[in-house]
Amino acid sequence: MATAGKVIRCKAAVAWEPNKPLVMEEIEVAPPQANEVRIKIVATGVCHTDLYHLFEGMHKDGFPVVLGHEGAGIVESVGTGVTEFQPGDKVIPLFISQCRECRFCKSPKTNQCVKGWAADRYDVMALEETRLTCKGKKLLQFLGTSTFSEYTVLNQIAVAKIDPAAPLDKVCLLGCGVCTGFGAAVNTAKVTGSTCAVFGLGAVGLAAVMGCKAAGAQRIIAVDINPEKFEKAKVFGATEFVNPKDHSRPISQVLAEMTDGGVDFSLECVGNVGVMRSALESCVKGWGVSVLVGWTDLQDFAARPIQLIAGRTWKGTLFGGFKGKDGVPEMVKAYLDKKVKLDEFITHNMTLDQVNDAVKLMKNGHFAHLHLRCTLNVVFYSVRFSHILCRSNEQNSLIFPDQITTSATLRSV
Ligand SMILES: NC(=O)c1ccc[n+]([C@@H]2O[C@H](COP(=O)([O-])OP(=O)(O)OC[C@H]3O[C@@H](n4cnc5c(N)ncnc54)[C@H](O)[C@@H]3O)[C@@H](O)[C@H]2O)c1
Ligand SMILES: [Zn+2]
Ligand SMILES: [Zn+2]
Repeated sequence: MATAGKVIRCKAAVAWEPNKPLVMEEIEVAPPQANEVRIKIVATGVCHTDLYHLFEGMHKDGFPVVLGHEGAGIVESVGTGVTEFQPGDKVIPLFISQCRECRFCKSPKTNQCVKGWAADRYDVMALEETRLTCKGKKLLQFLGTSTFSEYTVLNQIAVAKIDPAAPLDKVCLLGCGVCTGFGAAVNTAKVTGSTCAVFGLGAVGLAAVMGCKAAGAQRIIAVDINPEKFEKAKVFGATEFVNPKDHSRPISQVLAEMTDGGVDFSLECVGNVGVMRSALESCVKGWGVSVLVGWTDLQDFAARPIQLIAGRTWKGTLFGGFKGKDGVPEMVKAYLDKKVKLDEFITHNMTLDQVNDAVKLMKNGHFAHLHLRCTLNVVFYSVRFSHILCRSNEQNSLIFPDQITTSATLRSV
């Protein structure tokens, strides 16, 4: 491989500071060290957690950073000691690693591996160590990943090998949003045939709706302040729709009346402590289970103790409880077998250069036209664009666009 062992200079969207547009820069990506894998990112989704870091969390030690954690790509080269991956493998970077050795990995109860970025600091949302630099400065790798870049480097414990037949511009959504929502329903809430409510109908919430349906839920009540989301929620299996803005009473009362006392399962997919409380209070006493999926670490949440004393359970989930190396390839297979939907989540498709437009769309998404997931093509791999790609990527080019379509050609590069 022409690039193996060398520093790769490529394009990335850099967040130099909080609350400012990302800047397209030429960055340096170091060769993979022992146990590391360098990946050519082909496609990435934009998740609300990227926006959280940029506009809400804004931690002073969390910048400069390359955001993006919902990507898919192709292994360019591997460091010493890597036997599981070889150049040409299709992979999904994992923001929750699976080392298979720590006590959390060994327990079937959790996916909270001790070796990922979260072991450092949740608030900074990145590892101290990074393989990315720009203008002499270290660029943090958001959630250990950084998929808003043409190349990135991850430890092999945070990479999942996937079916070579998988279309990377679709399965990138399994790197975060869709696994998170689906797993929240199936793995964390452990929904069984019953009544569910999902608060927040972004990609995460809609994937939770899809998970509730897959788990056999009979009634799935979709709750959002943007009624434009309801039509899409129906596609994923929602049976009823509630807009809190249509009611003067607390939404928990509305749901209690609809369900004879409350839902069996509720999932908060907004990232708002007030909504978290409403979701808990919407559960039926005795056995109701409420799962926190939305991300926020800025405020405490509150609830009256009687809510739990009366038999409700409050839980949380990261990445839908999936152990990534095992779960992500299974979800890719489920997509290829047409058992889970992905295409329907994608409402916009842009290039990495348009990342600020994608961020703006998501930021304003609560008020504007329907937006769920914008995927960014980091590499155009349609043959139509091959000339453009070959020219602009000449020095780093690893696989030409028309070679990325079949597993046979992939393996042969
Ligand atoms: N736990 C995890 O591992 C994990 C992983 C990925 C994302 N997340 C978090 O999940 C949340 C959703 O992510 P997303 O990418 O789907 O976001 P999104 O912005 O696309 O969707 C959020 C939805 O919530 C709706 N909403 C806003 N306020 C509401 C309210 N008061 N009541 C009801 N609905 C409301 C919006 O209209 C929107 O449809 C975010 O907080 C994100 O950070 C968590
Ligand atoms: Zn995410
Ligand atoms: Zn582990």
